[in-house]
Amino acid sequence: MSNTRIRIRALAHGGDGIGNLVEGDGPTWFVPGALPQEVVEAQEVRAAKRFTQGRLVQVVEPSPARVEPPCPYAESCGGCQWQHVAPIKQPEFKARIVADQLRGLETGVRVGFAGPEFGYRRRARLHYRRAESGFALGFHAPRSREVVDVAQCPVLDPALDVAAQKLRAVAGLLPASGEVLGLSDGTRVVLGLPRVKPSPEVLEGLRALLDDTLVGIEVRGGRQRGHVGQRLLEVDGTPRWPAVRLGAFSFGQANAAGNRALVEHVCTRAEADGLRVLELYAGAGNFTRALARTAQRVWASDTDHDAIKTLQGLAKAEDLPINAKRQSATNLLPKLAESRSTYDVIVLDPPRAGLGKEGMAAACRVATQRIVYVSCDPATLARDLEVATERGFDIDDVTVFDLMPMTSHVEVVVTLRSRSGG
Ligand SMILES: C[S@@+](CC[C@H](N)C(=O)[O-])C[C@H]1O[C@@H](n2cnc3c(N)ncnc32)[C@H](O)[C@@H]1O
Repeated sequence: MSNTRIRIRALAHGGDGIGNLVEGDGPTWFVPGALPQEVVEAQEVRAAKRFTQGRLVQVVEPSPARVEPPCPYAESCGGCQWQHVAPIKQPEFKARIVADQLRGLETGVRVGFAGPEFGYRRRARLHYRRAESGFALGFHAPRSREVVDVAQCPVLDPALDVAAQKLRAVAGLLPASGEVLGLSDGTRVVLGLPRVKPSPEVLEGLRALLDDTLVGIEVRGGRQRGHVGQRLLEVDGTPRWPAVRLGAFSFGQANAAGNRALVEHVCTRAEADGLRVLELYAGAGNFTRALARTAQRVWASDTDHDAIKTLQGLAKAEDLPINAKRQSATNLLPKLAESRSTYDVIVLDPPRAGLGKEGMAAACRVATQRIVYVSCDPATLARDLEVATERGFDIDDVTVFDLMPMTSHVEVVVTLRSRSGG
C-alpha cells in the first residue's frame, strides 16, 4: 500500500495527530505519533465515512516539539503515547486539546499543574502473560492486547517499579494472563491481583515476596478475597487535611504532587466555607476531607462500597462534617431535582463517561451557586458543559492539570457559576 502525505494541524483528544492531505481534497486523517505543524507520511489502517485512521510511517517535516523518546520501550510499549513530545510542550498541547473540545463555549484554558516526566506514577495497572517463551510483565502494546515485557519503567514511581518486578518470582502461581494493580506512597507499595483465587498456596507464595518496600498484596478471585501484609496505605496527608487510605484496588490519582495541586484548586474554586456541599463520585474522600475543613457539611457519595466505608471511617476519626453514603450519582441526581432539594455547591469527579445530559440538567437544578466539575475526558465534559450553559450556568474557569506526563491523559477542572445564584 502506498504512503500518503498528511499535514498535521491539531491533536485529537486521545493524542493522535489530526490532518489533511498535503495535496488535494480528502477526508480528515488521524495519525498516532504525529504532531501539529508536521508533514508526515502515513499508511491507511482503516477508512471510515468521515475520516481515515492512519499509521505513521515517516516524519517528513518534524515539529520543533518532537524529541528522541528517552524510554527504550517507547516504540513497542503502549503505556506512554507521548515519549516523542518535549515535556515542556506537553501541558500546552493538552490545554489546546481541551480548548478544541470546548470550542463554541468561548472560554480560555489555563494550565494548573505540570509535573516531572519521570518517576511520578504512583498508581498503575500492569499486565502479565505467561507463555512458553517466558513471563511478560508490563503494559499492552499500542492498540493491542499483547503484553510488552518491561524490565524497568522510567515513569513509574521507583518503589512501585521495583515491587511489581518481584511478581516474576511467583509467575508459576499466577493464571496464564492477568493484571497487577499497584499503589505507592513513595517508599512503600501495595499490589493487587484481580482474578486470582486466594488459595493457601498463592498466599504463602505472595507472603514470601513482602519486605520493607512491598508491604502488602491483595488478591481477589470472584467473591473470594484475601491479602498478605498490609492492604491499605495512607497517602496525601498535609498539615491542613488528613491522609486518605487507599488500597491497590481503590481509585487514586497517579501523581501525588499533581493531586495535591488538584485538591487545592478544587477547594479554592468551590469557595465552600460555611456552605452545604454535595459531592458526587467522591471515592475514598480525596476532595471530601479538604472540603469538609471549612464547609458547613459535605454530603458525599460513590458506588464503591470499600471507598465509602473508608471515607466514613475517616470522617469519624477526624470528626469531620461529612455524610458519606454508597449511592449512584445517576440515580441520586434526578431524585434530588424532582424533590426540589438544593445544595449551595456541587463538586463532581465522574469516570470518563461524564455525567450525561440528563444528569447535568439535574445537577443544574440542584446546585444554587457553583458546580466544580473534575473531568478526565474533554469530549464528555464538552457535552455536559453545553447543557450547563443552556441551564443557567456560566463557565468561570477551565484549568488543565497534567497529572500524567508522557501520556495523552488530561485532567480538567471547570468551575460553573449560576447566573441566578451568587
Ligand atoms: C475519577 S474517580 C474519582 C474519585 C475521587 N473523587 C478521587 O479524587 O479519588 C470516579 C469515582 O466514581 C465512582 N463511580 C463510578 N460510577 C459511579 C456512579 N454511577 N455513581 C457514583 N459513583 C460512581 C467510582 O467508584 C470512582 O470512585
